[in-house]
Parts: sequence; structure tokens; C-alpha cells
Amino acid sequence: MADMEALKQESRIFNPSAELASQAAISGMDAYRALCDEAERDYEGFWGRLARENLSWQQPFTQVLDESDAPFYKWFGDGKLNVSYNCLDRNLENGNADKTAVIFEADGGEVTRLTYRELHGRVCQFANGLKSLGIRKGDRVVIYMPMSIEGVVAMQACARIGATHSVVFGGFSAKSLQERIIDAGAVAVITADEQVRGGKQLPLKAIVDDAFALGGCEAVRNVVVYQRTKGKIGWTEGRDLWMHELVAQQQDSCEPEWVESEHPLFILYTSGSTGTPKGVQHSSAGYLLWAALTMKWTFDIKPQDVFWCTADIGWVTGHSYITYGPLAVGATEIIFEGVPTFPNAGRFWDMIARHKVSIFYTAPTAIRSLIKAADADPAVHPDRYDLSSLRLLGSVGEPINPEAWMWYYKNVGHEKCPIVDTFWQTETGGHMITPLPGATPMVPGSCTLPLPGIMAAIVDETGQDLPNGQGGILVVKRPWPSMIRTIWNDPARFRKSYFPEELGGKTYLAGDGAIRNKDNGYFTITGRIDDVLNVSGHRMGTMEIESALVAHPLVAEAAVVGKPDETTGESICAFVVLKRPRPVGDEAKQIAKELRDWVGKEIGPIAKPKELRFGDNLPKTRSGKIMRRLLRVLAKGEEITQDVSTLENPAILDQLKHAI
Ligand code: PRX
Repeated sequence: MADMEALKQESRIFNPSAELASQAAISGMDAYRALCDEAERDYEGFWGRLARENLSWQQPFTQVLDESDAPFYKWFGDGKLNVSYNCLDRNLENGNADKTAVIFEADGGEVTRLTYRELHGRVCQFANGLKSLGIRKGDRVVIYMPMSIEGVVAMQACARIGATHSVVFGGFSAKSLQERIIDAGAVAVITADEQVRGGKQLPLKAIVDDAFALGGCEAVRNVVVYQRTKGKIGWTEGRDLWMHELVAQQQDSCEPEWVESEHPLFILYTSGSTGTPKGVQHSSAGYLLWAALTMKWTFDIKPQDVFWCTADIGWVTGHSYITYGPLAVGATEIIFEGVPTFPNAGRFWDMIARHKVSIFYTAPTAIRSLIKAADADPAVHPDRYDLSSLRLLGSVGEPINPEAWMWYYKNVGHEKCPIVDTFWQTETGGHMITPLPGATPMVPGSCTLPLPGIMAAIVDETGQDLPNGQGGILVVKRPWPSMIRTIWNDPARFRKSYFPEELGGKTYLAGDGAIRNKDNGYFTITGRIDDVLNVSGHRMGTMEIESALVAHPLVAEAAVVGKPDETTGESICAFVVLKRPRPVGDEAKQIAKELRDWVGKEIGPIAKPKELRFGDNLPKTRSGKIMRRLLRVLAKGEEITQDVSTLENPAILDQLKHAI
């Protein structure tokens, strides 16, 4: 976890190399400022120009931004296009047909390459297969897949026929999957028999079957199964189909379905501070514009680059920087099935060397765990590998602490690769605040400055601008093309969560705190201001975990807080009151294990509390409100210095001090 005080005072500056800068898409700070000025001067003209230059339209738009129904903004409203056409056909037309589109590396090391022509054929065949099942424009399709070419094909095929996909990360439980299938109103689920990670085979289809057994998934007509392992699985005749059989008879061309700019390309569920996960709805045109443009601006993508984003397609990073962005700009990219520590913790470095990766984009948690591994075993230190192909590094998902930044910069980038520390969110569709590799002087731990056209600012609770040097709430003052359009099925919650009345109803509330440096205006993200945790770059609501805990028959009450963690950024600490006397010793250990497994089943293994503490009660105010602020202090193992006189039961604090 980044030490906030250290971060705010960090003053080391690293300039982009002159060589990289001279050839970059945005070369030098003057070029950056010129673009910012263009956006300031003529906001719609700026975005209109970029949308015309970067996307292929079947029907050109005449209106850039429609604010009449704010905050339900519409971009390029009367234009039509197809996202899959922009990612695939366009590359066949502009000379990239025989260029490698994807290099897939399986967990066990087998490598598969596909050209743009081959990928186009695969997507068309699967799109035709989906059509043969009666799936049409506007239908929702849930994708519960391993990292695979087939996962990307499934997403692109949905885009091709105008079906709206909702990818559910393969680590989520049957219950989480069922809730998403129901909320999205899916008519089909695409999955695999099993997934392979770190040498282990893990079920996927069986979890889909469990999700169905929980009930409520009756709208789903078909389950399409990609055969990954040939492991034994259950089969429901009439509903289940093999992906390879479905596509076997299909043509490898498929006329794209031209959709309106605002047509929902996907729904992706993410956690908020209250209630169940929210279905973040994204558009087609605005979303794709930003995925493509940030590939050029932030990653400075060039035709000869080999781009590798290590995220999973189950998260937004995988959507924007695996499935859509790289293909929209005709790049060659790596898709990796496995984990960074298998067969050993040198896997990333080995893959960079073998595939001559030039742009590498990963999460701080991965870097921190690989630092530890390299410290413990010199054989997996990046020094041992030829990383000379690298020219640019990226970081995403959580704050990167300056020590990890420096290690990454020195040992992986050999002090010649800029690091783009990209701040963004599921809701923003693409990067928001990030250094530009050929322009922005970098400061470890700071995401530096907003991209041109992104009107990020720091305000107080009433929406007043705060001066540099004063921490506050991160907002975006004007709509931008790739922003969230609504929460699926819940427009009122969309308004309340992101455009609260207190801020005037038109300012986007990111949910993060931030501070700008007094001298250069650089942004540093200080962490979430709501009850959202970030564990290994995975976003989780404390409320969801609490609900899962209290659903267990033994649990009377639970409160969950985040605790700083050296490797995972934050870890989950749960304070639990049972319906029976407070357990101690072995009994406490055994119940803690049972509760952790329970949360794993209710939500998914990523939500399991690392630590559980039992009490006779929780610290509450006289009106019965749980004092989470105090629990956070206890979780950290610090002494409580705050005034506790308003507490109903101050004695309880002592009991909750120690982990079991
Ligand atoms: O708190 C911020 C943190 O991750 C949150 C968004 O999570 P999610 O929607 O899952 O998207 C992750 C991938 C973009 C943000 O609200 N976050 C993301 N990137 C950074 C970050 N915090 C600090 N620095 C970053 N570069």
C-alpha cells in the first residue's frame, strides 16, 4: 500500500527519453498543451475531429454531443458503425490482413498465432453461430470464459451482431454469476468446460450449471461451451452446445450489424459502496474511440510493437486493452492464459523475451509480488532475461508505491522505458489521468496529468474547486465520449452514484480522493472515498462482503474494512459477531475458515477476508451506527487516539484489537 505522506512528497522527476519523445504520437509538453487548448476552445469540434479520424463510420454523425438529457449524455448520436468492423475488417482493408493480431500463450506454454484475416474469419463464424441460435441485436449474452482467443472471439462476435455482452470474471462464484445473468436478462451464456491456471484445471461449466440450479436463469436458451480441457462436465440436452460444433458449418464472413453510436456494446458489473454490483453500461462509438485513441496517446502504439496487457477479459482493462483497443489500431498483442508465478515467477520476463514484447502493461500487485519473488530467488530476477525489446511500461488498477515504481523502472525498463501510471475506472472506459510517454516528466506514484479533453478537477463536498496542495474529491467536469452511460436497469442509481445533486448533477464523481502537487499540478490518487476496497487491483464493496457474511447461519453481525497490505495494496479484514458466544482458540480458527470458504462460495475467492476477528459486539454509537473508522484503526494494529466518548460500548475495542 502506498504510503500517502511519502507519495505526496515524492519529488524525483524522470524525463522521457529524447528518442522516444521525438517519434511519439504526442511529442513533448507543447504538443500536449496544444491538444488541451484545442479541447478548451472548441470541445465538440475537438471530439468530433477525433471521432472522424479514428473510427470508420457506416453513417457519419452530424451531432457530436447531446446534453439535453444530462447526465444521460449522448455522443455522435446520429452516426452508425460496428465495433467489430472497426477492429477487424478495417485491418483487412488497410494492409494488415496477414499481420499477426494475437499471440496466445497457454498456461503450459503452447503458443498459437492468428493473423487479422484468421481472427476475422473466426469472429464471423462464431457471429453466424450466435445468429443461428436466434441471438439478435440488443440481446444480452453473458461470457464466463478463461483467458483465451475464444473469449475475445466471443466478445467480438457479440459486437458484430449487435448483441450486448456482459463478461463475468472466471473467479466469481455461481451465485455471483447467477445474479449477473438475471440482472442482465441474458439469453445465452458462453463458457468453457474448464480453465487452466498455474497448472491446475478449474471448473467453469460446472459453475454455470450451479448458477442455473440456483434458479431464475430461465431466459437463457443456450449455453455454448468452448472445449478447453476435455474435462468431464454435465450436459443439458437442448440447451448446451459445443462451440466447435456450432461454428463447424458456418461461413467465415458475416455482414456486421450497423448500430447507433449509443448502442450498448457491453455491460460490466462492478462494486459500489452500497447494494449489489452495478451493471456499468458502455456505448459503441464513444467507448471504441477512447479505447483506440488511448492506444495511440498513452501507449504510443506503432505498427511494429508487440503489446501485452496482462489483465483478464473479465475486467475493464481486458475489455479496453485486450479485446478492443489493440485490435482497433491494428496492433499485435499477447493474450496469456496463465498466472505470473507459473511455472515460476520469471514467467512474465521469459514471455517478454521470447515474444519480443515492446509495451508491457500490468498491475502494481503483480510487480510487488515479483519483486518479492526475485529477492528470494535470483533465478527469476528480470536481470536474468533479455528485456531489450521493451520500450514502454504501464501500470493500472491501484496506486503504485514509489519503491515498486523505481524497481519496475530500473530492473524491467532499464531506465529507458517510460512508465505510464494510468488512472481510470470501469466507468470511464479508458485512461483518464496518465503520463504521456513522449511528453510528460514522470514522478513515481503520481498519475500526473489528465489526457487532453478530460476535465479532471479536485473539489470539496460542495463542488467548490480546491487549490493545488489541498486534498479533496476527484471529479470530471465535462462529459467525455467513453463515459458510463447508465447503470443497467437502474438509471436512478446511476444519477445518485455518479452525478449527485450536491455537486450540481452534471459533474462526474469518480469515488476517489486526490491531491494536486503545488508546483506542477500533478495528480496523486489518495484512495477511494467510499466503501470500496481495492485488493490486488480487484474492486470490491465492503457491503457485499458483509452481506455474504451475515447470510451465514452462525453470523449475527459483520463489518468489513480494508487494511493496508504490502503486496496486495489492501486486504480484507472482517469483524464478526456470532449468534453464539464469541469463539476462542481452535474453535475461532475453525469458524474463521468456514466463514472464509463461505464468502468464497457466495462471491468468489477474491472476496475471502484475509483476516477475521470475533467480538461480543461491534463498536457502535448510541444510535447504533457501526464505527468503521475505529475498525480501520484496529485492523491496522494502531492505537486508537480518537475520542471514543460517543461509543455505546468502548470496552469492545480491546476485544477486537487482536487477530486470531
Ligand atoms: O481507486 C481507483 C483505482 O481503481 C479504481 C477503479 O477500479 P476498476 O473500476 O476495477 O478499474 C480498474 C482498472 C482501471 C479507481 O477508482 N485505480 C485504478 N487505477 C489507478 C487507481 N488508483 C491509483 N492509481 C491508478 N493508476
